[in-house]
Amino acid sequence: MGKARRLVAISDLHVRYDDNRRIVEGLRPASDDDWLVVAGDVGELTTDIEWALTLLAERFAKVIWVPGNHELWTPPDDPVRLTGEARYAYLVELCRRLGVVTPEDPYPVWEGEGGPAVIAPLFLLYDYSFRPAGTRTKAEALAVAEAAGVVCTDEFMIHPDPHPSLDAWCRARLAATEARLTAELPEGLPSVLVNHWPIVREPTRILRFPEFALWCGTEASADWPRRFRAASVVYGHLHIPREIRVDGILHQEVSLGYPREWQPRSTEPGRLVPILPAAVAGR
Ligand SMILES: [Fe+2]
Ligand SMILES: [Fe+2]
Repeated sequence: MGKARRLVAISDLHVRYDDNRRIVEGLRPASDDDWLVVAGDVGELTTDIEWALTLLAERFAKVIWVPGNHELWTPPDDPVRLTGEARYAYLVELCRRLGVVTPEDPYPVWEGEGGPAVIAPLFLLYDYSFRPAGTRTKAEALAVAEAAGVVCTDEFMIHPDPHPSLDAWCRARLAATEARLTAELPEGLPSVLVNHWPIVREPTRILRFPEFALWCGTEASADWPRRFRAASVVYGHLHIPREIRVDGILHQEVSLGYPREWQPRSTEPGRLVPILPAAVAGR
């Protein structure tokens, strides 16, 4: 004890890679009361996801998880053959067994330094609305991306059932989440919005392949940071760790990423990004 408690975050652990698994084995809280946000892409295999979340739940006072696209894949070597919503439900049940907070649970309130603030884990998906310039529909956008040689593996690995498409699933998630945030965020408290994909388009502007933005979020949540009083928006998925302000609000990309991405960097891999109290203090 003695150290101030912190809310820290990381995402895109991708523990299928041994080098990343070793980094996860080294993740530890700085105080007994630290909370950890895990913003998706722990891995694809249910056994890997269970391994990582079990280890982290034993170490941190509270772990808050949101699914990434990789958790929604049904890889050929996974003994769990569930797809779509059933796969997500399986992972939510797994988290509940481990005491890990999911987007289906009541929003926890951070009462440590920088608080109180409501932590809202979100699962919003994407709806192909981050379209290349000059395209007006999902079909046009996908055709342009395909012509540029950019197609996300999700197209082959995620089955959105019972929804007819991933964008339909996204619309259902948006409607349910917007209703919950409106009803359940306590009046007057700031929030920390956590979603695997960025919830505004701005962070995708620096993608090396701009067409990839199609698989990175939805325009429908563009006004959520302000509407829902975000002190910080925590996301991953892009594997471009940084923080930016959009409309005055802090957006923190907290990914570890693949070994080939973090190995060339001079910074220590697996840094836990401070969210609170730092986000509220302003930097
Ligand atoms: Fe990732
Ligand atoms: Fe991702």
